Amino acid sequence: MKNCKLSWTLVVVLALIVAALGYKFTAGEVEKSDDGRVAVLLTKDERNALLQEMRTWLQNTQAVLAAASAQDFAEVNRVATISGMAAEANTPGSLFRKIPVEMKALGFDTRKKFDAIAADAAKLKDSKHTVAQVSMTMNNCIACHATYRFVEKQ
Ligand code: HEC
Repeated sequence: MKNCKLSWTLVVVLALIVAALGYKFTAGEVEKSDDGRVAVLLTKDERNALLQEMRTWLQNTQAVLAAASAQDFAEVNRVATISGMAAEANTPGSLFRKIPVEMKALGFDTRKKFDAIAADAAKLKDSKHTVAQVSMTMNNCIACHATYRFVEKQ
């Protein structure tokens, strides 16, 4: 009976630990920012890596539009693919714990939208469609920037 009680205590303690870890994983490493957004706290290298990814996103967005206006759908496919899910392989593992789950979802959705731009360009070769897709994708850029900041904290 005593053993039984002990094991229940253990179960409760373990459950609390699992819940706390789960919360940490979904909430990420964040604090309120004085500009009303959520600050995601990162090391200098993590922040630099993410901002570099962002600049690549901006560059590829421009390159997709330039290629679409030139009706060069092979090029749309090539540059959009660079911004698609394949790029996730380069993301450092430590970031998965620090980035809130909703932010991750928005990031993955943006990458999937670039994959759709790439696939549709190869299949449909319709620049109007590509431009509409880029416009929809950029709503994700706007939504995330309105909500989050990257702040350096060692
Ligand atoms: C999941 C969230 C998220 C999405 C989606 C997102 N960004 Fe960002 N981006 C950020 C955050 C956070 C920052 C840092 C903002 C800050 O600290 O004020 C940032 C910064 C940037 C910067 C500045 C880079 C620098 O060197 O300072 C650029 C450019 C940028 N994003 C472009 C884009 C473009 C283009 C898209 C869409 C194709 C996009 N981002 C989508 C979160 C996101």
